Amino acid sequence: MAASGEKKEVHADAQREYFRTRVGVFLQPIPDEILARTQKIAESAGLSESSQVLDVGTGTGALITHFLLLGVNDENITGVDLSDEMLKIARERYPKVKFLKADILDADTVIGKPDQFDAVFFNACFGNLFDQKMALQKTGALLRSGGCIIISHPLGKRFVKALHDSDPAIVPFFLPEKEQLEAWANELKLELSEFIDEEDFYLARLVK
Ligand SMILES: C[S@@+](CC[C@H](N)C(=O)[O-])C[C@H]1O[C@@H](n2cnc3c(N)ncnc32)[C@H](O)[C@@H]1O
Repeated sequence: MAASGEKKEVHADAQREYFRTRVGVFLQPIPDEILARTQKIAESAGLSESSQVLDVGTGTGALITHFLLLGVNDENITGVDLSDEMLKIARERYPKVKFLKADILDADTVIGKPDQFDAVFFNACFGNLFDQKMALQKTGALLRSGGCIIISHPLGKRFVKALHDSDPAIVPFFLPEKEQLEAWANELKLELSEFIDEEDFYLARLVK
């Protein structure tokens, strides 16, 4: 295995171990204020009943509740996560949703078929990735023309920076600045169509 492949696997193992011991945090009741923000995140992709949705780093499925509230058919939702413990809860909560245990950086081999999703969400996980641009490239290939990638955090960039400062091995990156996203979008043939960077809310939408 090439050196960067080995590092990617080491990083994925560290994520798995980190979240294995933290499932309880994600089982706590979510405050109404945060629920309103996650609803806004789900709404940002213009979903309908027939939308095909990929939820990256789905965890216990916090966003899935909102997709269902928007009328998305649960059989059209795919959740991907590295952690068995997170996926166990998500599967119990949403038995008709499809879940895959995988690293999103392997999306091309694990999910395969290109041009199949209307929306790909990275909520509260984009700073954790081993390679952010590669994640956009691989999930961009899975999008239909006109589909979108949403990168979001209901607590904003400042919160992700605090996570990075306390544990840079688990959160190696910040949430990207607008200029960085525009540069990636340009290279990957995507368009940055929305960018919100408020004190406690972050959302970027990239359209294919
Ligand atoms: C902070 S939790 C957020 C979960 C969920 N998106 C939410 O909004 O509550 C981050 C999740 O991303 C997952 N994750 C981290 N890196 C990943 C990767 N490369 N591929 C798939 N899942 C990943 C972790 O296992 C964890 O469950």
